Amino acid sequence: MTVKVWTDVTLLTMSENGTPYGMIKDGAIIARNGMIDWVGKAAALPEITDNARIISCGGKYMTPGLIDCHTHLIYGGNRIDEFEKRLQGASYEDIARGGGGILSTVKATRAADEKSLILSAKKRLRHLQKGGVTTVEIKSGYGLDLETELKMLRAARNIGQDSAIDVVTSFLGAHALPPEFSDDADGYMDYVTDKMLEAVMAENLADSVDAFCENIAFSTDQVERLFTRAQELNLPIKLHAEQLSNSGGAKLAAKYNALSADHLECLDEDGAKAMAAAGMVAVLLPGAFYTLRDNRIPPIDIFRKYKIPMAIASDSNPGSSPVLSLSLMINMASTLFHLTPEESLIGVTRGAAMALGLDDRGILDIGKKADFAIWNISHPAQLAYQLGGNACAGIVKNGESVKF
Ligand code: NIG
Ligand code: FE
Repeated sequence: MTVKVWTDVTLLTMSENGTPYGMIKDGAIIARNGMIDWVGKAAALPEITDNARIISCGGKYMTPGLIDCHTHLIYGGNRIDEFEKRLQGASYEDIARGGGGILSTVKATRAADEKSLILSAKKRLRHLQKGGVTTVEIKSGYGLDLETELKMLRAARNIGQDSAIDVVTSFLGAHALPPEFSDDADGYMDYVTDKMLEAVMAENLADSVDAFCENIAFSTDQVERLFTRAQELNLPIKLHAEQLSNSGGAKLAAKYNALSADHLECLDEDGAKAMAAAGMVAVLLPGAFYTLRDNRIPPIDIFRKYKIPMAIASDSNPGSSPVLSLSLMINMASTLFHLTPEESLIGVTRGAAMALGLDDRGILDIGKKADFAIWNISHPAQLAYQLGGNACAGIVKNGESVKF
């Protein structure tokens, strides 16, 4: 039995214990076999009879390991040329309609073999991990054919075999219309729903299903077909919704009791009400908002009004959010979306766990996974204040300190 005790640490437990950040100053935390066994004031530490290892944190802060609950980390190529075009005035939609955007990444991802996809994604993931991430969600969606969608999801599962990271996968076959179906969105959606989803399920490659509901992607009617099937299969649902227009995606996702709707810059109050009634999480992606120079802030006050939990994620992808730091997203959620530093930090811990339907992590509490991030900071709000650099002094996964 492995028992470890971390002391000389300020704990930001992120649990709702009546103090901001669930903070415990002069704290201590015990992990037994990779799970949290005790959390509290160091002065109240129980006597430990087992052979325990004591680890002093030298006065640093500890949060739950960060959870990046929305990424497209696996892809071939890059979209630097498109970035330059956008700097010259082209819009994301212009580029997508011209056959670039997601489709250019589809081309590069189809051409890449599984091994090279794993390698390039691992490089990106390493940056996220060094910034405190212990759980990451990874979507498919740059294949748009059976073979490549399976290749992406297998690559994601492969990355998840590393004991330092948990990977949750989402099948995003309905991300864009592939060239093979360029004038037949309904036909492609049938293919995604009937053929692709079946093959994905047969190999147990997806923990949830996702889609892009937007006028440059799929309509609510088309997405509904996919969701009906996912519900029959008991597969949790997520949706890219209300990013570029108010298309009714969040409402549709609520009808299917989705875990989350993500982006939401154009969400209206009705959509938010439906999300609240369905107990959904609003996943906010400030990296995409920033990169696309959007000026429509997601309706934060409405989320607060209806007590809709908010999560923050990187949306790491080559087009709309080439982001490799969740700390930067905490900063942007506060600076651009006006979340309090505490709300932002909840967004990458407790809120993100809810967005993935995981109740075994996201807070420092007895019975949760011993996944920690340790921070070289002097105040919790420093996590939102700081731009750049890396305040993360180390991560612990399942009770084991991770070496990079
Ligand atoms: O979450 N919105 C749709 N999908 C991605 C962008 C993917 C891309 O541009 O490659 C997103 O922002
Ligand atoms: Fe996305």
